[in-house]
Amino acid sequence: MTLSSTTIDYERLRTTLDWKAAEAELGWEPGKPLNIGYLAVDRNVERGLGDKPALIHEDSTGTVRTFTYADVKRLSNGFANRLQEFGVKELDRVCLFLDKAPELYIGFAGILKLGAVAQPLFSAFGEDSLLQRVEDSKAVAIITSRKLVSRVRKIRDRVPELKHVLVIDGNAEGKPLRTDEGEFAFDMEAEAVPEFEIAKTHRESPSVLHYTSGTTGKPKGALHVHSSVFGQYLTTKMVLDLKDDDVYWCTADPGWVTGTSYGIIGPWTMGVTQVVLDAGFSAERWYQTMAKHKVTVWYTAPTAIRLLMKAGTDVVKQHDLSALRHMCSVGEPLNPEGVHWGREAFDLDFHDTYWQTETGSMMITNLPGMVVKPGSMGRPFPAVDGAVLDPVTWEPVSEVGKVGMIGIRPPWPSLMRTYWNNSATYYSKFHNGWYVTGDRGSIDADGYFWFSGRDDDVINTGGHLVGPFEIESALLEHPAVAESAAIGKPDPVNMEVVKAFVALKPGFTGDDDTELSIMNLIRKKLSPLAMPQEIEFVDKLPKTRSGKIMRRLLKAQEWGEEIGDISTLEND
Ligand code: PRX
Repeated sequence: MTLSSTTIDYERLRTTLDWKAAEAELGWEPGKPLNIGYLAVDRNVERGLGDKPALIHEDSTGTVRTFTYADVKRLSNGFANRLQEFGVKELDRVCLFLDKAPELYIGFAGILKLGAVAQPLFSAFGEDSLLQRVEDSKAVAIITSRKLVSRVRKIRDRVPELKHVLVIDGNAEGKPLRTDEGEFAFDMEAEAVPEFEIAKTHRESPSVLHYTSGTTGKPKGALHVHSSVFGQYLTTKMVLDLKDDDVYWCTADPGWVTGTSYGIIGPWTMGVTQVVLDAGFSAERWYQTMAKHKVTVWYTAPTAIRLLMKAGTDVVKQHDLSALRHMCSVGEPLNPEGVHWGREAFDLDFHDTYWQTETGSMMITNLPGMVVKPGSMGRPFPAVDGAVLDPVTWEPVSEVGKVGMIGIRPPWPSLMRTYWNNSATYYSKFHNGWYVTGDRGSIDADGYFWFSGRDDDVINTGGHLVGPFEIESALLEHPAVAESAAIGKPDPVNMEVVKAFVALKPGFTGDDDTELSIMNLIRKKLSPLAMPQEIEFVDKLPKTRSGKIMRRLLKAQEWGEEIGDISTLEND
């Protein structure tokens, strides 16, 4: 393929496309209220799509439940109504701590209709991860399930603002709920109401709070607002290429931003039918799901693609995937092999997309019709001004192929508006008028962006960011651990997995028993993703003269890379 075979006029789009196009298409005018819950649900019913399936949900047992837009309307009203009766108000934070149950998707819409802020939490979060996020946001309510409520109970005494615990299967047989402590059995069907007066939120009203890990400190809450919908809508339409009769499958969990921006807001504001599979991964099951529901557009991640590659192409051919017409990827570098394999297995290109929790919507994309260069993230979405910046002057580098910091020129609708309780860190992300992503990359002669790495110590395991600090803090709670460092080590499937270096206190030995005892302690605190796959005992950790652990050095060793400048390394 050559660039001349492209079927879109990218340069023309760059000069003509404006985020405002989304405003008109969503029927919004300046000065009017703006509410994502309304645009994603009720507006579709008003447009005559009430009988159209919004959500086809399949659980681990293979049970399929279909919810039309009219169903989602009355059910999401039920969430909004009940929360309102409990006294939850606009701007209050409401957590969703659920597996991929229908209530997660529908509850999300209900929270937004009420004007409250939806705070999704990944269901695998352990006690510490949960506590940090609920403590920081001061959420007043949490929607969870019988399976997960025990973890909520463990943190209740440390989060006094959390008054209401809605348990979606709370009526099921089993241990009773602690109603005197605000636990409430929320049966979605029984709670449904036909009408709810949607909050008159506006462009800048807070909508979604997603926590993301950094190198230092606790996870930071990226706060989004209702006008983010314009960015999510336009990119869904143009990059995911959704059309009225598509059946779309986003494999991401709404605990992460992909699962809300493109697993709820994007497809539903377009009035499209989407599939959700709430079951563990297996290649066979994924292809069955695609064949059974005739999925046409698929948005997934490189780690999943690598797992599918491992399962081979034969299993692909055993399923009728003839409906599939478009595939996209996000979250980590998509290796060229992934794209080549996609061509072989599906006769389609995986279209990589690059963005972050903070950017709220896709920034660098491969538009349908654009030539896909395997290994490249694509070009800035036509309404986005992206550059590679010199880290000293913060000016765009003009040299082709020169690595610098990837920057995006604000504003755009779905850029976070702050980090919750942490505006100083928010402002530190901007330099010389650019939002600086913290990723390094370069631009080739055709304007395509190539990712080279993160500029911090955050670990990207299977597309999910894990902060070294949370792992190190958990390790330090063990009585034998004097100091620790967590880094990402190469992994053929997850790109990186966590490796911990531990220096022990005097009197302790770095043997299998100590390792097991450390692992057992931290397993209770961390989510499975953040669990080290390996602990290496060392006498001491490399540190700067000011005492900061040089994870960079440990990482370079692990990856067999040049160690770089070590002039700040502590001298004995
Ligand atoms: O390092 C980049 C990597 O994932 C980070 C953002 O992670 P998160 O905020 O969890 O959001 C993930 C889903 C939007 C980025 O800073 N990343 C994301 N997409 C890509 C990527 N790295 C390489 N190629 C990508 N396409």
